[in-house]
Amino acid sequence: MSNQSPKTPGYIYGAKEVSKSPVSLEDLHLLEQTVTMTHEDFCYLRLAGEVLEDQIEEVINTWRGVIGKTPHLAHYFMTPSGGPDENYKARAKERFKQWILDVCRRPYDQDWLNYQHEIGLRHTHLKKNKTDEASAPPHIPLRYVIAGNRFVSGRKLPAK
Ligand code: HEM
Repeated sequence: MSNQSPKTPGYIYGAKEVSKSPVSLEDLHLLEQTVTMTHEDFCYLRLAGEVLEDQIEEVINTWRGVIGKTPHLAHYFMTPSGGPDENYKARAKERFKQWILDVCRRPYDQDWLNYQHEIGLRHTHLKKNKTDEASAPPHIPLRYVIAGNRFVSGRKLPAK
């Protein structure tokens, strides 16, 4: 998978319709210091991108498995009639896959910052569902997104 994936519906990295993040590059550098990111860590991220390239599907399936088995999270991918919205799940999944590679490969510059903000908005009532014209619940509480970081970062993997 290359850096650019124009064929992924709704993936608009670097496009002019992506608004400017309220977090500045200076703020980002302070955050990097807060989580003790070093130059060496960025080198390992690049390496992770190479290693993960062929395993992206498994990575996302693991994370999706957690959501699918957890009713209060699966809820955010449901149609109004209560079943999973497979089209919505499939489209968001492709963008999530792209994000994993972007985290490893993209420079953390203004475009990167702006797109992380866009992704954040897509979890809130401001932009959730809009990209895929879905009718799922419109807002994911921030507490679940923060808590989800424990799995997404790989610090806690679900039991097989
Ligand atoms: C650290 C935690 C999380 C990360 C890093 C993350 C990351 C992402 C990414 C990269 C996308 C694709 C965004 C795009 O390009 O359109 C996405 C979409 C989505 N995520 Fe998450 N996510 C997290 C937590 C959660 C949680 C807890 C839920 C709850 C079920 C969730 C549900 C969704 C949904 C429903 C979408 C589709 C949003 C839309 O309507 O466009 N995410 N997420």
